[in-house]
Amino acid sequence: MQKTDKITFLLGNEQVSIDLKAENLRTDTTLLQYLRTKTQRKSVKEGCAEGDCGACTIIVSEPEGKFMKYKAINSCITFLPALHGKQILTAEDLGTAEQMHPVQEAIVEKDASQCGFCTPGFTMSIFGLYKNHNEPEEEEIRDALAGNLCRCTGYRPILEAAEEACVYKGMDRFTGLEKVTFEKLSKIKKTERNIEIITDQQKYFLPSSLKEALKLRLKYPNTLFINGASDAALRVTKRKETLLEIIDLSQVTDIKGIKITEKGIEIGAGETLEHIRTATEDKLPALYTMLSVFGSLQIRNTAAIGGNIASASPIGDTLPVLMAYKAKVELCNGEGKKRVILLYEFIIDYRKTKIKKDEIITKIIVPFAEEGFMVMSYKISKRKDLDISTVSAGFGVKLDDKVVKKINLYYGGMSAYTKGAAAAEKFLLEKDWTYENIEKAGELLSKDFQPLSDARSSAEGRMQMAKNLLIKFWDETKH
Ligand SMILES: Cc1cc2nc3c(=O)[nH]c(=O)nc-3n(C[C@H](O)[C@H](O)[C@H](O)COP(=O)(O)OP(=O)(O)OC[C@H]3O[C@@H](n4cnc5c(N)ncnc54)[C@H](O)[C@@H]3O)c2cc1C
Ligand code: FES
Ligand code: FES
Repeated sequence: MQKTDKITFLLGNEQVSIDLKAENLRTDTTLLQYLRTKTQRKSVKEGCAEGDCGACTIIVSEPEGKFMKYKAINSCITFLPALHGKQILTAEDLGTAEQMHPVQEAIVEKDASQCGFCTPGFTMSIFGLYKNHNEPEEEEIRDALAGNLCRCTGYRPILEAAEEACVYKGMDRFTGLEKVTFEKLSKIKKTERNIEIITDQQKYFLPSSLKEALKLRLKYPNTLFINGASDAALRVTKRKETLLEIIDLSQVTDIKGIKITEKGIEIGAGETLEHIRTATEDKLPALYTMLSVFGSLQIRNTAAIGGNIASASPIGDTLPVLMAYKAKVELCNGEGKKRVILLYEFIIDYRKTKIKKDEIITKIIVPFAEEGFMVMSYKISKRKDLDISTVSAGFGVKLDDKVVKKINLYYGGMSAYTKGAAAAEKFLLEKDWTYENIEKAGELLSKDFQPLSDARSSAEGRMQMAKNLLIKFWDETKH
């Protein structure tokens, strides 16, 4: 097993190797900090340092199967070592004033370049769209740009530039270089598989297998697991913490993959939310619906499902819908022993789960809904895009002649953790699926939930939203 304490990546087409210790860089240095302080790539801006504005958007490309895959990510919440074996592209790589990339040409043509702060981020998001979609639908364009804010509200020309640019089937000068890039990156990954960086103050491990990750955990029991780091990085950029010991699971291949079995779908805990979103549209439509309003594309391109579950946030968006599907979590410990536990039993309190110290979440098992069982998901937030939930829900019902035979009602944002509306479920079972009964069930929500008042809503507002979601669910399933 090859180990190294240097991280190597392609910055544009140039191979860069960094010895963080020698360069006196912290292991939790973000890519944005590195680009702005150690390189001349000043197009990459810091707006918010928490994944909300898109000014820091860059493209990461890496081999996936036989092809190179291009993904827009927020460099402000990506730790530098996570880039090992990948290619980083910024606006500086696209073209020059004399020889512009089609994306840049369209931005000029449509007067979409409004201010120097947001434009590079928008440009990279459009470039990501360009490489992944030919003649995208309006919804795809809006989704690709939902993670980029423009404070002068000049979105129209930007949307038009995206539409105009993305008509060349992703072909550009990067296409011609792909074979060479693919080989260079594959070589890095093959020869330098496991990164172990130990500085005077910090440790950062980037294992490539589950076995290696578990071994490290046994050796260093206080390490923090991360995957996409979209939660963890904010501890550094916002709370100014120093993360002393990190095991980064983002390159552990054993916890990736989406497998369709006869009984359901098994999702690797390390799978990114965007990959899950695109893979589950037909099979798990309620999960797809929820993931379509989860963060932004930049967030979904890095954040993993294991991270959302392990965080056990009361407003973790995958939780209510996965609970409504009766999903299970697979855990593996340092001795390689596995156990499987129902998700709604796994989450036990505010940001608390039943995970043991030496365990990693390896898989999420989502059974297919039985014939006639209808599952829906809902998210109420102040904004449709890139906002966290005020109240969220995952509901499932099976009716026989309009009588409730099975019912699952789970809410996020209504208590310290995502949980079921037990009293309402009990009341509705074997009852007629009528508006009157739904209203009565709504009144019983107060038996299970005493929501908080905060900046997003009052407690009364939350309770009303929860009742209204139940009515919406009834309305959508009553026929
Ligand atoms: C701008 C922005 C928007 C967001 N929008 C949303 C949203 O709409 N909805 C929502 O629910 N969340 C949202 N989030 C929160 C976050 O993106 C999600 O919770 C995400 O799924 C976390 O995944 P990650 O891989 O980035 O986790 P990380 O930050 O890497 O890890 C989070 C936690 O999970 C643990 N962990 C990770 N993987 C494992 C594993 N395999 N086994 C055991 N423990 C593990 C880590 O130790 C850590 O405690 C947002 C965050 C940002 C910054
Ligand atoms: S700086 Fe705002 S998203 Fe990164
Ligand atoms: S483009 Fe920067 S504020 Fe609108």
